Amino acid sequence: MHEDVTQVLFTQEEIAETVKRIGAEISRDYAGKKLLLVTVLKGAFIFMADLVRAIDSEVEIDFMEVSSYGTEAKSSGIVRIIKDLDSSIEGRHVIIVEDILDSGLTLKYLCKNLNSRKPLSVEIATLLLKKEKQEADITCKYLGFCCPDEFVVGYGLDFSERYRNLPYIGVLDPKVYS
Ligand code: IMP
Ligand code: MG
Repeated sequence: MHEDVTQVLFTQEEIAETVKRIGAEISRDYAGKKLLLVTVLKGAFIFMADLVRAIDSEVEIDFMEVSSYGTEAKSSGIVRIIKDLDSSIEGRHVIIVEDILDSGLTLKYLCKNLNSRKPLSVEIATLLLKKEKQEADITCKYLGFCCPDEFVVGYGLDFSERYRNLPYIGVLDPKVYS
């Protein structure tokens, strides 16, 4: 597993510090407000688990699973909901928790979909942002790291369901997928 990673981009310690920082920002911004974190499965599950413990104010969580049609490496922007939220978000403050924003097409669809359900607000927290690749015009209020335009794995991020359990985030050897 570790031998398929050519470069460690963010260590376990760096990730922990960054998640703490984002948690503090969210705690400050939503103090006294009812907040719902919506996690996009599966990639963001570890980020969410750590982030929720770094938030020092009242928070609820829910999960969505979406699949974007396209190849493993490129999403098409056409999104299918595999698992929807359990509860209504009407009148609630929502933060979508994502692992990585690549083209941004998945999040663009999600924001539009959630905004149609009459929430008080919808913001985005993403651990990683691939800046060069962003096609959709969306802003994320909370950002962990900018990430080079490489295929990365670990800390929840997968290639073909593998490598999610790596405690760090690293570049996957192209030999694995070529
Ligand atoms: P987007 O719609 O192009 O922004 O794609 C977002 C989704 O594609 C993410 O939630 C990930 O599941 C997946 N993805 C994009 N880039 C990577 C990567 O480098 N490693 C693993 N998954 C990725
Ligand atoms: Mg994925």
